Amino acid sequence: MIISESIRETREQVKEWKRQGLRVGFVPTMGYLHEGHRSLMEAARKENDRVAVSIFVNPIQFGPNEDFASYPRDMEKDAALCEDAGVDLVFHPDAGEMYGEGFSTYVDMEGLTKELCGKSRPVHFRGVQTVVCKLFHIIPADRAYFGQKDAQQLAVIKKMVRDLGMDIEIVGCPIVREPDGLAKSSRNTYLNAEERQAALVLDRSLAAGRKLVEAGERDALKIKECIAGEIGKEKLAKTDYVEIVDFADITPIENLEDAKNGEILCAIAVYIGKTRLIDNFIYRISECR
Ligand code: PAF
Repeated sequence: MIISESIRETREQVKEWKRQGLRVGFVPTMGYLHEGHRSLMEAARKENDRVAVSIFVNPIQFGPNEDFASYPRDMEKDAALCEDAGVDLVFHPDAGEMYGEGFSTYVDMEGLTKELCGKSRPVHFRGVQTVVCKLFHIIPADRAYFGQKDAQQLAVIKKMVRDLGMDIEIVGCPIVREPDGLAKSSRNTYLNAEERQAALVLDRSLAAGRKLVEAGERDALKIKECIAGEIGKEKLAKTDYVEIVDFADITPIENLEDAKNGEILCAIAVYIGKTRLIDNFIYRISECR
């Protein structure tokens, strides 16, 4: 497995694979890898001849009061996981390599990035799009793999690729959970034992909401109230948002039957102590119209 910190060397290697007619799968990450990332690598392994992973904690997607400095990092462990998952190339640049002196070009998007996480993290998606766009230039892969836990991020990346005519297929992969239901996240490491237990309220509250939808409830407000009510029962939890949006364009929806492609996204962000966690479910209400 090649580990490279250099843009030029990484791009040359991927181009060489492309010259040989090999299909390349790419998994962008911020490291501190877990089973969720591994599932993306495994999907990439199955569908491509070569797999590249980037490990870069991207400073420009964190707001001033967010956890950039404390975001967990463990390159040695990450490299071992990549090796074990059959990865061929790890791109691990430092911030100077990615954002050299005078960097001032950003990728931004109207609409879609202003809902859900965009409300409480105003610079987040601009930073994500900019780094992902740059990574797609450095690693000109055939396919890139993203987890559905960050459902809004997945929708934003898909739209960016469509809007800018990028030649890459975006593949969304299912959420990977701990045996007790907590969605895998590098940020779970911030939780102490009591908070770890309290964090189960995310999965529990979403399950309650989903049950209502499955029973035929279509009023988004009632479903959101049910989820928020469940979260409210957990004393260590504080709701950032509970939202139901049309999954086609991430716009708020009142009646689930109105979803344009027949799919809704029910997404929540909850503080457990100081740790902000997100989770969601996607539900198909009807066949596409
Ligand atoms: O999902 C992540 O880990 C990050 O947002 C990404 C896509 C690697 C961009 O920094």
